[in-house]
Amino acid sequence: MSKKPDVKDYIRTIVDFPHEGIMFRDVTTLFADPRGFRMAIDQMLHPYAGERIDKVVGLEARGFILGGAIAHQLSVGFVPIRKKGKLPGTTISEEYKLEYGEAIVEIHDDAIKPGEKVLVVDDLLATGGTAGAGIKLIERLGGDIISCSFIVDLPELGGRKLLEEQGMDVNVLCEFEGL
Ligand code: PRP
Ligand code: MG
Repeated sequence: MSKKPDVKDYIRTIVDFPHEGIMFRDVTTLFADPRGFRMAIDQMLHPYAGERIDKVVGLEARGFILGGAIAHQLSVGFVPIRKKGKLPGTTISEEYKLEYGEAIVEIHDDAIKPGEKVLVVDDLLATGGTAGAGIKLIERLGGDIISCSFIVDLPELGGRKLLEEQGMDVNVLCEFEGL
């Protein structure tokens, strides 16, 4: 019997990108494949069937591709969280740690209304720094995060554990061992 198709099979690994020693999990090959992309969106949505979701929030940059498709499928609005300086309106911001140094992400301060049910999406969960900062922004606006959904988790980097310790519901489609 042939093996059931798996989103993991569509993800390409690029060795030594962006630095030596890093195995980059490249989801562009998943996005480029019509069956793979649909499978990823359908599987990301599956745990939330029947749940109320008012807004989908996508984390720059690959979270925009997933979040746009998911929001369209749910017929709800999409909200971007962007790197500093990209959003034109009034924003609030959060700083988070990177491997070297810090980064800042922002959201428009009127993008989410208090009490709205929010689904957070991104391609990959590593240390949880990016998602953690996004969660803080949404919570500062009074959004009620129902869950965070990712295609890939890198369990060795501990992001999932960190988010779950903060009481977040986390769903991932696959895991990769090795950084
Ligand atoms: C990658 C990835 C996640 C984040 C995960 O994005 O797409 O957003 O890192 O890492 P973390 O859990 O350790 O925060 P990156 O910052 O490379 O930017 P990009 O998506 O804009 O390319
Ligand atoms: Mg990213």
